[in-house]
Amino acid sequence: MRKQIAAANWKMNLKYDEAKNLLSELKNCSTENSNAEVILAVPFPYLLTAQEILKSNSSIQVAAQNCSQHVQGAYTGEVSAGMLSSCGIKYVIIGHSERRELFNEDDKIISQKIDQAIGNAVQPIFCCGEPLAIRENNEEAGYVEKQLQQGLFHLAPEKLEGFIIAYEPIWAIGTGKTASAEEAQSMHLHIRKVMAERYGEKIAGSISILYGGSVKASNAKEIFGQPDVDGGLVGGASLIAADFEAIVGSLK
Ligand code: PGA
Repeated sequence: MRKQIAAANWKMNLKYDEAKNLLSELKNCSTENSNAEVILAVPFPYLLTAQEILKSNSSIQVAAQNCSQHVQGAYTGEVSAGMLSSCGIKYVIIGHSERRELFNEDDKIISQKIDQAIGNAVQPIFCCGEPLAIRENNEEAGYVEKQLQQGLFHLAPEKLEGFIIAYEPIWAIGTGKTASAEEAQSMHLHIRKVMAERYGEKIAGSISILYGGSVKASNAKEIFGQPDVDGGLVGGASLIAADFEAIVGSLK
C-alpha cells in the first residue's frame, strides 16, 4: 500500500527562533494512520535543528528544499545531495516550479539532481505541474507527461518503487486558487497512467502522488479523499501549526 504523505514546504520563510517555535509545536504531531508520513522541508540552516527537535517522533521526517546537480567542489553557495545524506536527511524536493522559473532549472538539471539525490540515498519529492496558459489551452496532460519523461524516465524501475511525485499546478501555488478535487484526481490518474505505461502497474501503484497548490485545512480532506491523491505538498498553510496539523489529520 502506497504511503499517504503530508509534506510541508516552508520555502524561504521564518527566522530561526520562529522556526524552532513551529518545530516545537509540531513535535508531537502524529496521525493514527500507520501508513501516513509527515515531512517538513525546511531551509538548509534549520535542517539539523529540525532533526534534533523532532527526533522522538518517528512519523515526522525532515527534508531539504533543493540540492545541487553537482557532486562536490567549486560551486559557491550550493549544497550537495551527499552533504544532505551525511547529515542524515532522507528527503529532498526537486524540480519545484519556483526553482524551474526563478532559478532557470531545466529538465536536464532536474534529472541530474534526481540522480544525485538517488545516488546518495536521499528520496526525491519530484515536482511537476503546468502554468496557467497551458491549462487554458487544455495542454496540461501533455505538458506534465513531458516533465515526467524528462525528469524520471531515465531511471531504472527499482528506483521508482515507492517514489514521491508532487503535482503542483503553477496557477494554484500561493494564489489561494486550488484545483478542484476532480481536476486534481484527473491529473493524478493521468500521472499514474504515464508512470504505468513506462514502469508497469505495480510500480505506478506504489508511487505516492501528492497534490500541491493552496492546500488548506478547509480543503485538504476533499482533495486527499480522491483515489489517486496520496496527500499534499503544502506551502503557506504549513507555517501555522494548527492548520498543518489539520491537514495531516485529513490524510486517508
Ligand atoms: P502553497 O504552496 O501551498 O502556498 O500554494 C505549495 C508549494 O509551492 O509547494
